[in-house]
Amino acid sequence: MKGLILAGGHGTRLRPLTYSQQKQLIPVANKPILFYALEDLIEAGAKEIGIIVGPNKEQVRATVESENWDAGINFIYQEEPKGLAHTILVAKEFLDEPFVMYLGDNILREGIEKHAKKFEENKNDASIMLTEVENPRQFGIAELNDDGTIKRLIEKPKDPPSNLALVGIYFFKPVILEACKRIKPSWRNELEITDAIQWLIDNGYKVGWTKVEGWWKDTGKTEDILEANRLILDGIQMKNEGTAKDSRIIGRVIIEKGVEVKDSIVKGPSLIGGGCKIKNSYIGPYTSVGNDCVIEDTEIEDSIVMDNSEILGGGRIIESLIGKEVKIRRREELPNGRKLIVGDDSEIVG
Ligand code: G1P
Repeated sequence: MKGLILAGGHGTRLRPLTYSQQKQLIPVANKPILFYALEDLIEAGAKEIGIIVGPNKEQVRATVESENWDAGINFIYQEEPKGLAHTILVAKEFLDEPFVMYLGDNILREGIEKHAKKFEENKNDASIMLTEVENPRQFGIAELNDDGTIKRLIEKPKDPPSNLALVGIYFFKPVILEACKRIKPSWRNELEITDAIQWLIDNGYKVGWTKVEGWWKDTGKTEDILEANRLILDGIQMKNEGTAKDSRIIGRVIIEKGVEVKDSIVKGPSLIGGGCKIKNSYIGPYTSVGNDCVIEDTEIEDSIVMDNSEILGGGRIIESLIGKEVKIRRREELPNGRKLIVGDDSEIVG
């Protein structure tokens, strides 16, 4: 079975971060979101993986190639994001055997091994994964028959017939190519994967489903990324490879190599990336700090700070997503008002 990961699109709901960074590369617990998909596919036995890339193709390639993967990786360019079913058409040469399509912004706690096994055992033409959600209008939704088989799939329904959402991970036989060719663009002018799967159902193909038991996150918005960060940090084990002086390290904290913590409190679950310097600060629960950051005279909690950022006298920071190479400083001289250089679509509260 092959793997197909989607790492294109503009990530408009995550601006301004996505002006410079492809959304699937945003780190959750110091690992690009995309790597969770790669790991799940390799664990489930995929030997060849295609990655659909869009506007930031070089960035995605460089990040993926910075690690060794136990599978062949192919990059497939999609010129314009015209829908999930469209990516299948773009990758048609690659998709010559059964495959798993994995949206590169999805994170799933339990991995996909058992779902992949069911797909193979049941000899279905396609298999989807379903989970209960509180906000069914935001997802593709499945309506089931009394015997538990799939009756109908609807993309972002105004009047949802159930709360069973389609997770962004799909198992397909190559017949899905035919379905993607046959369907028409939706109201949002995209070729919807939900419509392609519905085409299979309507034309007598076997479409099965499995239920997701653990947590699942589609990291489309800032809140979702912070929530995924909390969920991953909840599962970490303590490790300290740095040095801490006159400081208190409380609970499950990972401190990577080369970190210096001085006159500070670090409370878990939290993660401090390699080479960071933390001084006279409080790093609170559910915080992931990227590599080579400097944090001084600051309290930060429930946040993500990306590589090479510097926060000096940052006050109290909560529930924040701070990009790479950001500099946050207190202005020492008078008048001591806030001096801001803020990108489009940013939000400053407090
Ligand atoms: C896509 C699918 C939707 C699915 C969701 C899961 O939505 O179209 O059916 O429930 O992924 O992440 P999109 O992210 O394109 O809004």
